[in-house]
Amino acid sequence: MKRRTDHQRERLEAQVFVCTTDRDGEYACCADAGGKETVEAIKSWLRDRNAFWSPISVTETQCLGLCSEGGTALAIQPRNEWYSDVQPEDVPDLLESEFGPNADRVGDVYEQRPPE
Ligand code: FES
Repeated sequence: MKRRTDHQRERLEAQVFVCTTDRDGEYACCADAGGKETVEAIKSWLRDRNAFWSPISVTETQCLGLCSEGGTALAIQPRNEWYSDVQPEDVPDLLESEFGPNADRVGDVYEQRPPE
């Protein structure tokens, strides 16, 4: 076992976890609500600002407990920010509000944000 905390703290400022859960059943799931398209929109926005992978990584994940027919759920860590009902077209505004228009506020992890 290797402890890689220092390595990751050096490389990463934030990690976006995007639910892409696909399941059959009576409950909504993010795959049916555009999860994959939202992941691609996030990666594209970050790539355009040279901020993909380092300093911001994007990880597809399983259910975050925010299931909705209205869109995808995602979490931004270590900011402890959570969103649901995200559509691909919401991604630019969402990421701009989190990281700045040019992803130049990436390191503002603990900046106090105004209440919504
Ligand atoms: S299926 Fe995506 S949050 Fe539950």
